[in-house]
Amino acid sequence: MTLVLGIESSCDETAVALVTADGRVLAERIASQEAEHRPFGGVVPELAARAHAERVGPMVQAVLADAGLALSDVDAVAATAGPGLVGGVMVGLVTGKALAFAADKPLWGVNHLEGHALSPRLVAPELQFPYLLLLVSGGHCQLIAVEGVGAYRRLATTIDDAAGEAFDKVAKMLGLGFPGGPAVEIAAQHGDPKSVPLPRPLLGSGEPHFSFAGLKTAVLRAVDSGRYAVPDIAASFQAAVTDCLADRTTRAVRAMPDATALVVAGGVAANKAVRAALEAVAVQHGLPFIAPPLKLCTDNAAMIAWAAQERIAAGLAPEPDPQARPRWPLDLSAEPVRGA
Ligand code: KG4
Ligand code: ZN
Repeated sequence: MTLVLGIESSCDETAVALVTADGRVLAERIASQEAEHRPFGGVVPELAARAHAERVGPMVQAVLADAGLALSDVDAVAATAGPGLVGGVMVGLVTGKALAFAADKPLWGVNHLEGHALSPRLVAPELQFPYLLLLVSGGHCQLIAVEGVGAYRRLATTIDDAAGEAFDKVAKMLGLGFPGGPAVEIAAQHGDPKSVPLPRPLLGSGEPHFSFAGLKTAVLRAVDSGRYAVPDIAASFQAAVTDCLADRTTRAVRAMPDATALVVAGGVAANKAVRAALEAVAVQHGLPFIAPPLKLCTDNAAMIAWAAQERIAAGLAPEPDPQARPRWPLDLSAEPVRGA
């Protein structure tokens, strides 16, 4: 059975995993760089690239050892080729190329977003195409019609910040530290979500996209006013983001009547209020709700290996000598044509 070694290094997680064609994760390791970046209140690209470079080699050896396997047992190598912080992507991709060369096996340069998009099928093999995916992370906030392997239609994206980015910035304003999402969620537990009047940008709008910049500015004004307690601001902000995500997702569900399920992925999907609101949207529209387990929702290498497995199973061939791409939209047709 085909065995793929996956490598992920596009942001601040170095990850390596071994995944079989039937979706068994034989071994996996994830090293978070939270401690390195915490003093700076966000991910520092140069530090991230250095940390990936220090860790990825030993982690590949450790994962093979965990599984009791050698590099020669691997049938293909898959590494994230973008989108992401280019220094980190280059570290993982070049490592993947070296391993593939040494083992004389094919190398797959995987789109990180495709990894997220197909990851639910790793744990829910019954999930059929087409499904609606809400990808909500620190770098992305997109609704994607996943129509097949390599067939993605972007229905919506953010016109300014990603939802996770807004959580991180609000956490900073509230002095809650990094990474911000989990800290805001904890602070919100003791707050009243109705206490601070905050806007819900684009709620009910005819256009499909997300926007969080205005909400973030309103939170800053509430903080500066000195009138509200931190838990109340955190709870009110979380409620506003949740309302926006649910509203925009409802619109997309209606625009995609053939969807077999509503699927969420990305770090923000870890948020219980967000998860509950999205589940309610799915239930309202008679759709199964699929939220992969947390460790598969956030950045990981199993999803990168799995995306290559899906491509192999679909009879696709790897792109020869893939290069690191800081930007790499899943749905190229949704991108503005430059120079046209
Ligand atoms: O998918 P992910 O691990 O990395 C990428 O950005 O690709 O997502 C990280 C993002 C961060 O912005 C983090 O603050 C947010 O997900 N996040 C959360 C929660 N856990 C992580 N946001 C809200 N509530 C959470 N519990
Ligand atoms: Zn990601």
